[in-house]
Amino acid sequence: MDTAHADPTAADGTTEDLQAHFEHTIRRDQRIEPRDWMPDGYRKTLIRQIAQHAHSEIIGMQPEGEWITRAPSLRRKAILFAKVQDEAGHGLYLYSAAETLGADRADLTNRLIEGRQKYSSIFNYPTPTFADVGVIGWFVDGAAICNQVPLCRSSYGPYARAMVRICKEESFHQRQGYELLMTMMRGTDAQRAMVQDAVDRWWWPSLMMFGPPDDNSPNSAASMAWKIKRHSNDELRQRFVDMTVPQAQKLGVTLPDPELRWNEERGRHDFGTPDWSELQRVISGNGPCNTQRLERRAAAHEEGAWVRQAAAAHAAKRAAHEPKGAVA
Ligand code: 3HC
Repeated sequence: MDTAHADPTAADGTTEDLQAHFEHTIRRDQRIEPRDWMPDGYRKTLIRQIAQHAHSEIIGMQPEGEWITRAPSLRRKAILFAKVQDEAGHGLYLYSAAETLGADRADLTNRLIEGRQKYSSIFNYPTPTFADVGVIGWFVDGAAICNQVPLCRSSYGPYARAMVRICKEESFHQRQGYELLMTMMRGTDAQRAMVQDAVDRWWWPSLMMFGPPDDNSPNSAASMAWKIKRHSNDELRQRFVDMTVPQAQKLGVTLPDPELRWNEERGRHDFGTPDWSELQRVISGNGPCNTQRLERRAAAHEEGAWVRQAAAAHAAKRAAHEPKGAVA
């Protein structure tokens, strides 16, 4: 998808001209860039989705971060450290993408901490064993790849470009998790049982990451029409199931769904229905770890206030000593 800048003549045109040009750009699979005119609804839903995506990356550092000091080897610690650090970077790319739409990063952080903006439900589950670190990499980052690769073709330029960089790192995240589990499965019976237990706990919440079913997804129609989303929630969920089943067979674990089977006619796997009431409960703040995750995020924001103040003071001092009209 190449980037088409708003037609300069349209810049002075009526709103109808601008709307027509916007729709023409979307229809031709071209990119909308920050300086282009866009409908308020397009801007609003992008800020909503990109902010939540960014929040998810930052909160997502917590479940695995808890294992950095307890990793079973220096190699595992180094891998986990790199992964958690990547997630922080993903969050920063995405907050920067949201800022190109006029969002304010501090405001978005406050909305998250005050529960006025969401983050992915998946990060509200506990990580009691090191096998959880592997299953998060395999399932959660695997699901993120299914969801994020199409977003590389999102109609909004900065979001799509952030996704290209993020998806490269997600592949490492997914592979390291699967390799960790493969190692444990070659270990003791206790380690194999630990992996199966983690698979049992994370499978259904991972399917819920893709959002509610299409017939109960209020944002999908508009997001698909604007080519922000390229596939529906159910389509991406199906892709994830079809991708994961053979991996589970190779690993030697059982996915906890008695309805899971290959459907030759469909050329896809049939599978059971996630508990949508659980997704609603977790999204509404009543998951196993919601309170702890937001308390930690609020504490980290508080503890980091001095860094923000020092950076702002440094920037102000530099600006005050810059010769007038100097280019930064
Ligand atoms: N967790 C939390 N909220 C969810 C959710 C979930 N699993 N699924 C849906 N929701 C929310 C939506 O945000 C929406 O609420 P809102 O209108 O207040 O924003 C509501 O439930 C209805 O859902 P819709 O399907 O109508 O909403 P969307 O069209 O936005 O689809 C989505 C939901 C598929 C999550 C979409 O927002 C999306 O693709 N977001 C970008 C990707 C993303 O955020 N992934 C989350 C994980 S990030 C990650 O995994 C990082 C990796 O490094 C580990």
